[in-house]
Amino acid sequence: MKVFHLSVECYPIAKVGGLADVVGALPKYQTKLGVEAAVIMPWYDRPFVREHSFDVIQEGAFYQGSELLNYSVFKEKENTLGFELYLIKIPGKLDRQEVYCYPDEGEQFIAFQHAVLNWFKAKAIIPDIVHCHDHHVGLMPFLMKYSNEYNFLSGVMTVATVHNGQYQGWTHWSKAILLPGFDSWKWGLLDWDGLINPLAALIKCCDAYTTVSEGYLEELYVEANGLQHLFYDERHKSVGIVNGIDWDIWSPDKDYTLIENYDLASVFAGKLKNKQALAQQYKIDPKLPLLVFIGRFATEKGADLLPDIILDLTENFSGRLSIFILGAGDPAIQSRVKMLVDEKIENLDVFFGYDENLAHWLYASADFLLMPSRVEPCGLNQLYAMKYGTLPIVHRVGGLKDTVIDLENNGYGVGFESLEVAEIRKAVIRAVEYYENRIEFEDNQHKIMSLDFSWDKSAAKYISLYNQLI
Ligand code: ADP
Ligand code: GLC
Repeated sequence: MKVFHLSVECYPIAKVGGLADVVGALPKYQTKLGVEAAVIMPWYDRPFVREHSFDVIQEGAFYQGSELLNYSVFKEKENTLGFELYLIKIPGKLDRQEVYCYPDEGEQFIAFQHAVLNWFKAKAIIPDIVHCHDHHVGLMPFLMKYSNEYNFLSGVMTVATVHNGQYQGWTHWSKAILLPGFDSWKWGLLDWDGLINPLAALIKCCDAYTTVSEGYLEELYVEANGLQHLFYDERHKSVGIVNGIDWDIWSPDKDYTLIENYDLASVFAGKLKNKQALAQQYKIDPKLPLLVFIGRFATEKGADLLPDIILDLTENFSGRLSIFILGAGDPAIQSRVKMLVDEKIENLDVFFGYDENLAHWLYASADFLLMPSRVEPCGLNQLYAMKYGTLPIVHRVGGLKDTVIDLENNGYGVGFESLEVAEIRKAVIRAVEYYENRIEFEDNQHKIMSLDFSWDKSAAKYISLYNQLI
């Protein structure tokens, strides 16, 4: 079975968040299970691309509106990631450093999808499955079925994975001229509320759609930034498949980025060594338990609540824990957090920016990971945290609800129902008091480190979905 995953992120080539982690892992585990899984993504001016060898396997051109775009398809020579990797380069469009936030982003995504179709046509490639991740590649199923030039692919099954339904890729109808030609009476499949909505088009036209947890699927039927009725109406072709984590990269016993590796037997000493090293560089007290937040500064992640949570804990629970925040994003959130650090709140430190190694170091050093997310389709942070023996303290939504069972229900984590600061404080206090009972806490560390959130099971579920379709 030949499967092409289409995505604009893939670890380690270009990562902004969990989408990259999933697309960098799922095809590898599918390949191990005997499926020919490949990733197609835009070409980026980034270290991985500069440091690895590629063959140019196809060159071609197509019109995007009145502009002639030349493209090249690069294939990685060595398959260093455990799957075939293809990059599409289009000078001036797909040759940049960042993944998002260019003013012509919508045009970049259209160009990417058009180039893939043009390459498939030129080389008569007919895969078994085209698996589209998020709205950036949301027009593929529509174009494969209904564009005049590329509908030779209409029989190919398409799977859509919704990593985040908040973002939909809304595009003004004036941009329709940039798309490969299609019968105008099909326009309704692209439209939602008077705009081209690539996520809506994806859900309408795909053969099956998945969400990255079962809990999130239920939530999308009720609230999906305007698309809830669509998700509900198309529920006959939906399934929730929880993400896994890539143990080759996320295992404290072999994680090469750590100061000290550790396993079940050495978790206490190992984490302490990592924490002590962190305390030499940052303003935390290694003798206190450490709570961390790692993530995008977005309201979706509840990052806007962090300043109030920190102030509240300082007022009501002072001297009992250190806090470290790693994140970047919304400048307003960033400046409020910075003010607190500048006010010299004790045992609080922060790193503004994106730092993959520091994230690993924090999962290894921390005792608790806080996730006050408003929306969390799956969440990988809590899964990484548990693998590193760190107790997750999470808002009970989406994938967090599915993957973190509360200690109070014979589980292994701490949850809270509402995002009231006082509720979050209670959850943190509950976690710290639990930590103070060393024997129980260590037993629980062994439990969470042994949970099976590997990709093997979920990769197999995707494969059985493919099999049902073809
Ligand atoms: P999302 O994709 O919504 O951001 P996930 O929990 O699925 O959330 O994945 C987030 C990923 O990004 C994890 O691998 C996490 O460690 C990483 N991450 C988030 N923010 C940072 C940061 N500032 N520096 C390093 N890694 C980060
Ligand atoms: C999205 C979601 C996150 C999920 C990730 C990978 O970025 O916000 O919850 O874990 O995709 O599927």
